[in-house]
Amino acid sequence: MASFRTLDEADVSGKRVLVRVDLNVPMEDGKVSDATRIERVAPTIGEIAEKGGKVILLAHFGRPKGLDAKNSLKPVAAALASVLKRPVAFAEDCIGPAAEAAVAAMKPGDVLCLENTRFHQEEEKNDPDFVAKLASLGDLWVNDAFSAAHRAHASTEGLGHKLPAFAGRTMQAELDALTKALEAPQRPVAAIVGGAKVSTKLDLLGNLVAKVDVLIIGGGMANTFLAALGRNVGKSLCEHDLLSMAREIMDKAEAANCEIVLPVDVVVAQKFEANAPSRAVDVGAVGADDMILDIGPRSIERVVSLLARVKTLVWNGPFGAFELEPFDTGTIEVAEAAAELTQAGKLVTVAGGGDTVAALNAAGVADRFTYVSTAGGAFLEWMEGKPLPGVEILRIR
Ligand code: 3PG
Ligand code: MG
Repeated sequence: MASFRTLDEADVSGKRVLVRVDLNVPMEDGKVSDATRIERVAPTIGEIAEKGGKVILLAHFGRPKGLDAKNSLKPVAAALASVLKRPVAFAEDCIGPAAEAAVAAMKPGDVLCLENTRFHQEEEKNDPDFVAKLASLGDLWVNDAFSAAHRAHASTEGLGHKLPAFAGRTMQAELDALTKALEAPQRPVAAIVGGAKVSTKLDLLGNLVAKVDVLIIGGGMANTFLAALGRNVGKSLCEHDLLSMAREIMDKAEAANCEIVLPVDVVVAQKFEANAPSRAVDVGAVGADDMILDIGPRSIERVVSLLARVKTLVWNGPFGAFELEPFDTGTIEVAEAAAELTQAGKLVTVAGGGDTVAALNAAGVADRFTYVSTAGGAFLEWMEGKPLPGVEILRIR
């Protein structure tokens, strides 16, 4: 794999450093409700500031179509300042006079956050004039936003054509973890893929069967596979129009010598609600009115003993309806076992994707995994084997 220039090679002292970060954090009542992404970019910002660089932050927030005050980055910049424990100045625009004046006022070691890049529609179009305006504010560009790297936008990709480009520390950590998980993993390697729908993960499953030794399928999408094998899934979530697709994936897996692991027993209920009366049944004994909401105890045991036989695990998507107790049991018990093996030095565990991170946080295991990516869509596209524009631009050519 081609490598990347990192901050080790960047001479930032006295320079204006444009740093693309992902500050697209969840907010509730005007306050940041999960600061994980802010915490992840703090080391890069701190390091550049310590080395005497002028840190100019570029980020998007939400999906505004042009200027929209409710998508301002101002409250996020304030949250960033408290994580960094240093002042963060703010400019009301990411280009033009407001940005230029704010940058001109900076001293080495200062941190400035520019307003939401998506307030300009040219950002998403990767418009060359807009890229040039952004580029005029800096001497070099550091991309620390892996979770936005699936976007070929001006601030995530375009700038790399204009300025010397470097990977920030979080980008570096993400790439390192992902390489260990799928590019050059210690084998055997297993993947857990869960979540509701096969239809959203067809490319991902197709890519994984060619790369991993064991593919463990959970969540609603497992029902589609069970149905494809002729099992009755009752009222469960199931994409009945995708049964032949599921069969194709299983055939592809067999040809590639990838073992597919499906639940052998499941927890069923007749209502989709927390603490609905439920029972564990064999996959062959699902009733017409049953809804499969989690994997059963024998399946959990099987997955756990399987994890003890592999060296690497990449995880995307929960096993069951993890947002409803007790249907989070499968996800929690498998996550707990994976965390223990990781801590014992026996397993490399890399997880990512929006729901996955929420599930692992809820299970209290995220800290004990080798790496938990903060990326949603970018993690999926990476698992699909697609090149990410924001990563490709950083490769040394
Ligand atoms: C994310 O939250 O997944 C990233 O910040 C990318 O945001 P986007 O999906 O709106 O491009
Ligand atoms: Mg997204």
